[in-house]
Amino acid sequence: MNELHTDLPTLRRQIHQELGRVWIGPSRTIDALLVALLAPGHVLLEGVPGVAKTTLARAFTTVLGCSFRRIQFTPDMLPADITGAYIMNLRDQEFVLRKGPVFSHVVLGDEINRAPAKTQSALLEAMQEQQVTIEGDTLPLPDPFMVVATQNPLEQEGVYPLPEAQIDRFLLKLEIGYPTAAEERRMLETYDQSVAEVRPLLDPHGILALRRLTARVHVAPEMREYVVALSEFTRRHARARLGASPRASLSLLRAAKANACLDGRDFVRPDDVRALAVQTLAHRIVLTPEAEMDNLRGVDLIGEALAKVNYRGPADPSRGA
Ligand SMILES: Nc1ncnc2c1ncn2[C@@H]1O[C@H](COP(=O)(O)OP(=O)(O)OP(=O)(O)O)[C@@H](O)[C@H]1O
Ligand SMILES: [Mg+2]
Repeated sequence: MNELHTDLPTLRRQIHQELGRVWIGPSRTIDALLVALLAPGHVLLEGVPGVAKTTLARAFTTVLGCSFRRIQFTPDMLPADITGAYIMNLRDQEFVLRKGPVFSHVVLGDEINRAPAKTQSALLEAMQEQQVTIEGDTLPLPDPFMVVATQNPLEQEGVYPLPEAQIDRFLLKLEIGYPTAAEERRMLETYDQSVAEVRPLLDPHGILALRRLTARVHVAPEMREYVVALSEFTRRHARARLGASPRASLSLLRAAKANACLDGRDFVRPDDVRALAVQTLAHRIVLTPEAEMDNLRGVDLIGEALAKVNYRGPADPSRGA
């Protein structure tokens, strides 16, 4: 286990290198995917068409070296297309379970907001419970189990926005923006690299070991105070109809631990919390209609929380310090 710890920065570098072969973009996005992997949690990539959401998600899931399925969400999709169903086997005259694509370690839910709410919730239930219920039978999903979903921003036509209760199940939402001009030029030079060339660098056991390591990262009491204060700030905010939930606080703390672990540290610093606050909290904030009309966004509210809520404790609150 300890050797894994010292190896994590190396593994992180390798993953950046591997993904960099097919995806050109800010390295903090790749780090955020790794945070979700370790925390552990599920991740939602949001961006307009053509910014390589699917490319990045596919490359990342390949690197994980786990069983993998992609579910392309469409308006005519049914929950059973995700979870599976009992099918009559005509030869033996009995019902057999045909497991759906959700029974894999890693699921890429592509364009998740193109399916109706009932179908989305089949996946989102699996995400929360790590199990699915098919006609009354509860079946466990593999461990690790991670969903990487993509969606177009909600203003686009032909989408069914994810309900608040469901968006809360994503540990992180990452906004995938346009590349810089330099990045875009580099992409045009290297466009013939295919995602199929990405090599796996992990496997299910390796991922579980990394998650155990993350779970042991030390959190000082002051850090918990800080997380609670940030969440409370969003709940009290006059422009928020719905602030960060207790699940959101837990997510922020877990993401901060994963961030520390990726850095090769065994304790959380206030900077870990700050670094992940927007990505873990902003998507869960529901603004008042007036605030929305003023074009205020969840991101702005979290920015305000970070500016106004002070962390009260030592900068390096390592164990025993
Ligand atoms: N930053 C980038 N790095 C590498 N390739 C890119 C980048 N941006 C766009 N591309 C290329 O653009 C094409 C579109 O990418 P992709 O299908 O992944 O986009 P998407 O965001 O999933 O789009 P949609 O919302 O329409 O599904 C791919 O061929 C991809 O290689
Ligand atoms: Mg896509």
